[in-house]
Amino acid sequence: MGLFDNVDKLIQETEDSIENVIPLKKGTPVKVGVDLGTAYTVLVVCDVEGKPLCCRLRRTQIVRDGLVVDFITARQIVAELKEEAEELLGIELTHAAIAVPPGTHGSNTKTHQYVVEGAGMEVVAIEDEPTAANQVLKIENGAVVDIGGGTTGISIFKDGKVIYTADEATGGTHFTYVVAGHFRIPIDEAEDMKTNPEHYKNIYSLVTPVVQKVASIINTNIVNYDIDKIILCGGTACLQNIEKIIENETSIKTLKPKNPFLVTPLGIALACPPR
Ligand SMILES: Nc1ncnc2c1ncn2[C@@H]1O[C@H](COP(=O)(O)OP(=O)(O)OP(=O)(O)O)[C@@H](O)[C@H]1O
Ligand SMILES: [Mg+2]
Repeated sequence: MGLFDNVDKLIQETEDSIENVIPLKKGTPVKVGVDLGTAYTVLVVCDVEGKPLCCRLRRTQIVRDGLVVDFITARQIVAELKEEAEELLGIELTHAAIAVPPGTHGSNTKTHQYVVEGAGMEVVAIEDEPTAANQVLKIENGAVVDIGGGTTGISIFKDGKVIYTADEATGGTHFTYVVAGHFRIPIDEAEDMKTNPEHYKNIYSLVTPVVQKVASIINTNIVNYDIDKIILCGGTACLQNIEKIIENETSIKTLKPKNPFLVTPLGIALACPPR
């Protein structure tokens, strides 16, 4: 069995639950996760066993470097995602787990919490993002690298526990900037081009230096640890062959699940106590 067989199955179920949702009996307990990101806000609902039931998402710009910068819009979007999920599932969502980047403290964590509570769900668990991702990945030893929209988060796991984390301001937005700059096109168009596999051959050489930058960030952060594998997650890890460039630059075996984008949102839901 491959390292990611179960992960890929869970993520596939999460993806399927964007389009296909089976209504539940009123009062069925569920686990709910809300991921407020730089690029996407995602809500995932699972049953008590952790099977994904419903996933709603929106492209957003409510968080920068892990901090909520647009509270009102954030609350509004989470409320909309909650309503959509409630409609599809036929139950009320009363609670949720959230996650914050490692090293987020005090009032910044509170802001994440207030966004979700303002949208009508009690926050029953607050995880750090890599721990949430590892609810899905189940890595015992190695580095988990979350390449998101705004930042790259590096977490080192030893015996299943996070022992080191870092978060650096290079992410998918920077990939988009180089594409926009090169073709002299608006950011939105560059974003579409970057995420469309058909355009991969046109952007490959442009984004490679940014991937190399990410790899050098990884190298700098893992230098004092004995790392035998790197696991990629986050939306930017969807980029074709990104794992090959990173493996090349770090000389460490680098792997990613089939769709790395939904790993953290699903993991947040899995971290939620059912209600
Ligand atoms: N198929 C794809 N190819 C390349 N990049 C992609 C693809 N799909 C999504 N992305 C990029 O992934 C990024 C979003 O990833 P993710 O949802 O993990 O970030 P986030 O959690 O919102 O941000 P952060 O973790 O930095 O707060 C965006 O920059 C988006 O362009
Ligand atoms: Mg993220």
